[in-house]
Amino acid sequence: MIKTKYDITLSSSEYVAFKALVFKEVGIELGDNKQSLVQTRLFKRIMHYDVESYSAYLEIVKKDSVEKNEMINLITTNETYFFREQAHFDFLKVQLTNFNEQKKYRIWSAASSVGAEAYSIAMLCDKYLSKQGWEVVGTDINSDVVKKARMGLYPESWVDKIPLTCRKKYCLKGRGRHEGQFLVDRVLSKNMHFDVNNLMLVNNKIGTFDTIFLRNVLIYFNDETKKKVVENVMKNLKNGGYLIISLTENINNLHIKDLKQINSSIYQKKG
Ligand SMILES: C[S@@+](CC[C@H](N)C(=O)[O-])C[C@H]1O[C@@H](n2cnc3c(N)ncnc32)[C@H](O)[C@@H]1O
Repeated sequence: MIKTKYDITLSSSEYVAFKALVFKEVGIELGDNKQSLVQTRLFKRIMHYDVESYSAYLEIVKKDSVEKNEMINLITTNETYFFREQAHFDFLKVQLTNFNEQKKYRIWSAASSVGAEAYSIAMLCDKYLSKQGWEVVGTDINSDVVKKARMGLYPESWVDKIPLTCRKKYCLKGRGRHEGQFLVDRVLSKNMHFDVNNLMLVNNKIGTFDTIFLRNVLIYFNDETKKKVVENVMKNLKNGGYLIISLTENINNLHIKDLKQINSSIYQKKG
């Protein structure tokens, strides 16, 4: 039987090699059940390079940092939506309403994916912080989603999760080639900034924040990496500032210094 490109499969030993590289670069711990998912996601790169095996592709990835980036973009899971986990936005609303310092309120959406979380935060900031000003920074390891976040253009179906008042104020219906999409009003973008960033590394560039959203990303890490990531992120959190993780995540077993638990998913930096 003639073998075609479509018969190329990711062997167990090749999968182990990809897993190790992904873990080293971004801290993501791929489970043993993700082999066929990885095979499918990387297959288009096999086709693109016209190589005969996943090992041959791995060699390219190891030598070429642009391709390594491309591979990581394909491996990450970027599911997100506007106003995800409403309880956190209710909490934020209280913080913003009570903020009476004469300076900008700064929020970091760490692991921002395509930006739905950052724009949800920005809508509330714009509403409740008209006097002091605000800034929202979104970062992600995946350069493709960072580009999408900067554009702020989403499928129309995503608008359903946005509260009606925000929808009316900030969501612009697409026309012509943007039919079926909506654009988040660029009035918010002037106080926003999106960049590529790896949470495995300390970020010395973006300054400190009053609140950090670190949601639905810790789930991809083992405990040691989780601890490292939380400790890294805390370096960018002001004393007294809040760290918000997902309602489905838990860091209580990590015994992180200087972090006081406010409720199941919200922490405050001591000091
Ligand atoms: C499921 S999304 C969560 C998006 C958003 N925070 C939310 O809760 O809806 C997880 C994001 O984490 C990003 N990510 C994974 N590992 C990362 C790392 N080491 N550094 C920065 N971002 C990472 C992925 O690219 C992905 O966009």
